Amino acid sequence: MHSPRHFALIPAAGVGARMASGRPKQYLPLGGKPVLQHVIETFHASALIAHTFVVVSPGDPYIDALVAASGPAAQRLTVIREGGDTRRLSVLNGLRAIRGAAKDDDWVLVHDAARPGLTPALVERLAASLRDDPVGGLLALPVVDTLKRSVEGGRAETTVPREGLWAAQTPQMFRYALLARALAQTADVTDESGAIEQLGLKPKLVEGSPRNFKLTLPHDLALAELHLKGQQ
Ligand code: C5P
Repeated sequence: MHSPRHFALIPAAGVGARMASGRPKQYLPLGGKPVLQHVIETFHASALIAHTFVVVSPGDPYIDALVAASGPAAQRLTVIREGGDTRRLSVLNGLRAIRGAAKDDDWVLVHDAARPGLTPALVERLAASLRDDPVGGLLALPVVDTLKRSVEGGRAETTVPREGLWAAQTPQMFRYALLARALAQTADVTDESGAIEQLGLKPKLVEGSPRNFKLTLPHDLALAELHLKGQQ
């Protein structure tokens, strides 16, 4: 009997406009190597992951040097140069490109290139929580702050109850065929879970970690450095 394998799929075709830097945020240096390289090495260090696929823009000028510098991790790594205009399209193109390699019931863990704080322990926690799950799920954190909805001028109009609210992280882990179908059928989602939810299914929320945050603004790099050094 075929036992499902686990594949990592990293969409890395974004430009990271809010980072206001010269290059996309996944290629900024963090602790001596590019952000994306941390992510690739984490998946390589996780015995569970059979292979890692990275989706980049067709004209990406940085990825070849990164692969060359990845040492043994490069052996279980394939670059797909078919990034799309949105994250959803980059992931969908990646899924289509691995159609021959992945079976319908294999798991795909989609992870943002700009979340270098992922650890093998988090990957394993997610996979173990979803081993027999019929839907799949994602790392996420319960919202702890009081939430405000603003009106123009940056003034608080109402307080949004935070009960039952989670902040989605990645990896988001679903079976290959279900995820490909869900992403093909929707247009306006910002993560894989959103596409699965639109099918009427309920992905499982598995507690992630604050260190697995997404680099978005310039000062986020300094925070990521602290996490890497184990100070936070
Ligand atoms: O821009 P944002 O932070 O939401 O991007 C999340 C992830 O999706 C990043 O890893 C980024 O490189 C990727 N992405 C992509 N293709 C796009 C836009 C974003 O692969 N067109």
